[in-house]
Amino acid sequence: MSEAVAQQAEEQEPEVDLSIADKVIDKYIDLPGNLMPVLQAVQDEYGYVPRKVAEHVAERLNVYPSQIYGVLTFYAQFHLKPRGRFIIRVCVGTACHVSGAPRIVETFFDKLHIGHAETTPDLRYTFEKVACLGACGMAPLAMVNDDTFGKMTVQKVDEIIAEYNQRPMK
Ligand code: FES
Repeated sequence: MSEAVAQQAEEQEPEVDLSIADKVIDKYIDLPGNLMPVLQAVQDEYGYVPRKVAEHVAERLNVYPSQIYGVLTFYAQFHLKPRGRFIIRVCVGTACHVSGAPRIVETFFDKLHIGHAETTPDLRYTFEKVACLGACGMAPLAMVNDDTFGKMTVQKVDEIIAEYNQRPMK
């Protein structure tokens, strides 16, 4: 499992600057229990945990790469592939489902040409179906990064994509 995950990550991986990881590791190296904070901090820096960075962390913290991949694949907060600048989440919890979430999801798929947990080739969007976001009164609900869009309609999907297509990538 770990090797397959590493291989999959490798296939999609652009060049990475390990000096960024080194700065993070230097900061935490003497702290006990530093593996999770290091992995979180490197993910904050790179936007995901590149395979080369995972292996570099393993080497410098003197742990097995399999241990690192164990952590990275266990916790949903970690990502092994590059993610989009804008993370679109559509709730598929019960209230949203009965209010039309499947149609909203399909419309995003059609417009962005990606599926669940996929990223557009230009790295602008990642799309995710998620469980109840706790705002069922606004169903069906979508989010783009921290922005919330309630009472979603197919037309709003167009408006959201048009708006975020204008936003800068940084
Ligand atoms: S079911 Fe979608 S916010 Fe609760």
